[in-house]
Amino acid sequence: MYLAFSSLVLLVLFVCGEIVLSAALPPVAAAPELVRRRDADFNSVRTRLFDDHSGRKGDPKDKYFHESIFHPHYDGRFADKPLPSDERRAYLVALVHTYLSTMNDIGAETWIMHGTLLGWWWNRKIMPWDSDVDVQMSEKSMHHLADFYNMTIHHYKLPGLSKGRDYMLEVNPHYTNGSTEDSLNMIDARWVDTESGLFIDITTLRRNETAEAEGKKGAMMCKDMHHYMFDDIFPLRESVFENTAVKIPYAYSELLAEEYGPASLVSTDFENHRFDQEKMEWIPLRFA
Ligand SMILES: *[C@@H]1O[C@H](CO)[C@@H](O)[C@H](O)[C@H]1NC(C)=O
Ligand SMILES: *[C@@H]1O[C@H](CO)[C@@H](O)[C@H](O)[C@H]1NC(C)=O
Ligand SMILES: *[C@@H]1O[C@H](CO)[C@@H](O)[C@H](O)[C@H]1NC(C)=O
Repeated sequence: MYLAFSSLVLLVLFVCGEIVLSAALPPVAAAPELVRRRDADFNSVRTRLFDDHSGRKGDPKDKYFHESIFHPHYDGRFADKPLPSDERRAYLVALVHTYLSTMNDIGAETWIMHGTLLGWWWNRKIMPWDSDVDVQMSEKSMHHLADFYNMTIHHYKLPGLSKGRDYMLEVNPHYTNGSTEDSLNMIDARWVDTESGLFIDITTLRRNETAEAEGKKGAMMCKDMHHYMFDDIFPLRESVFENTAVKIPYAYSELLAEEYGPASLVSTDFENHRFDQEKMEWIPLRFA
């Protein structure tokens, strides 16, 4: 009985190794390195690469997420070069599908924004020149992800791929700091494709408490300085994006016109592409 008990204790000690160690250490100069909360650095998440291609070394120390040294829309812990542009689209579509499916399973409230919403406006698709995907999330859902899903890996079998792909959800510990002054940490969480390094930036929609204190009811904001009224976003509308169910903000056209200018909703020439109304596709100008 005693033996069984002590091995149980040992097991517990082993599992909680980090905590026990930090409690046993006196608060001397060497301690902070040991007790510091583990960062998701290259060695703790690496898959196939031998070198870290994240911008970690050159970034300010308080910046949590590091874009790669070769392209701002790739995670250099997982990739050492951008995808060829003709392969990128399929990866982005899979990124969106797996993200929306996971958030739906978890019950997290999320919707598309920015360039992704503009792509939705035109033809319910990611625009051919885009290399990122932008979404927002409600504050309560972000707390839920941070509490229960940080650093979780989600394996997806994808049509046409024999081995499937792993996606990682990572929450910025600075997400609790809602100040726009924390400008190094405007992105609250990321959904990362551990094969290609592409990711979705997730930002939290928060109440703007300063504005509320001034009597502006329903004023909301994101750390990336975008500001909204509650009624611009809610109630969310149900729609379809890349052939899958998605939520979009209530006043989508006003939001797009404000962010990209009214012409962005009507002008069929954009980024060396022309929108073909019949095919409902953006065609590169050299073919249009
Ligand atoms: C998520 O996990 C990483 C790796 O352990 C850690 O650095 C980060 O602080 C965690 N985020 C939150 C919100 O706890
Ligand atoms: C939020 O981040 C800013 C910028 O780093 C910092 O000045 C401020 O003290 C932080 N606030 C909280 C509540 O941690
Ligand atoms: C929050 O509201 C204050 C007061 O109205 C305003 O000055 C500030 O720009 C708002 N913050 C954001 C990020 O929109």
